[in-house]
Amino acid sequence: MARTALVTGGTRGIGAAISKALKAEGHNVAASYAGNDEAAAKFTEETGIKTYKWNVGSYEESKAGIAKVEEELGPIDIVVANAGITRDAPFHKMTPEQWQEVIDTNLTGVFNTVHPVWPGMRERGFGRIVVISSINGQKGQFAQVNYAATKAGDLGIVKSLAQEGAAKGITANAVCPGYIATEMVMAVPEKVREAIIGMIPTGRLGEPEEIARCVTFLASDDSGFINGSTISANGGQFFV
Ligand code: CAA
Repeated sequence: MARTALVTGGTRGIGAAISKALKAEGHNVAASYAGNDEAAAKFTEETGIKTYKWNVGSYEESKAGIAKVEEELGPIDIVVANAGITRDAPFHKMTPEQWQEVIDTNLTGVFNTVHPVWPGMRERGFGRIVVISSINGQKGQFAQVNYAATKAGDLGIVKSLAQEGAAKGITANAVCPGYIATEMVMAVPEKVREAIIGMIPTGRLGEPEEIARCVTFLASDDSGFINGSTISANGGQFFV
């Protein structure tokens, strides 16, 4: 069934692949973004997917942005909380600002994205929440105390929402991507990146489309019994 879907951070990287894949499934997709107007305009031009600008770290902005999406596209049945940032630094160099920025976007951003759509999903008796966590929330990562904390926290959110939403036809699941060929991973120093690839049994970075496949599966009407789970897509780099 065609539904309205929201993908935060949906104009670039993994989010863009998810937005396109959900559209290909027949859904009416809204992609939010935080700041890169140029990338958003190009994305809409190429895909026809509408974009909306707000900071997921702000509850008020999220609420207003989501209200606008619902006004224009209809009630949101599928939410993909994908927006995320890194501010990597070894712990002894990590600043409180680097900690807070990542918490605000990657963890509070999930609360801010799901909370405004939750009452409507409960009323309609249907919802699909997919949160994009990370392999580094599962295993931790050098220079990512902030990021790993948020991505582990995202798994706690999903497992709790799964229990609260189940009786109302809402599922909440997580996808934990490994290292995917996106700008975020390309920003890692080349030598470090090469070393990381050496640790991936598949011998390569993942493709954003490989994560999008996990999301369309979890977001489908047929996935109602899959709730509170985590799909790892990391080329065999880490097993939970
Ligand atoms: N394990 C152990 N030691 C490590 C290490 C690792 N993974 N990475 C770096 N080090 C060590 C270096 O060898 C060096 O040691 P020495 O001082 O003894 O030579 C030290 O840490 C680095 O010190 P620097 O002062 O040079 O560090 P820096 O302040 O310049 O920071 C860095 C560099 C931020 C750690 C950089 O190397 C980096 O970005 N690393 C990658 C971190 C990472 O994997 N991020 C994931 C991004 S992708 C993502 O997050 C998406 C996802 O979900 C998977």
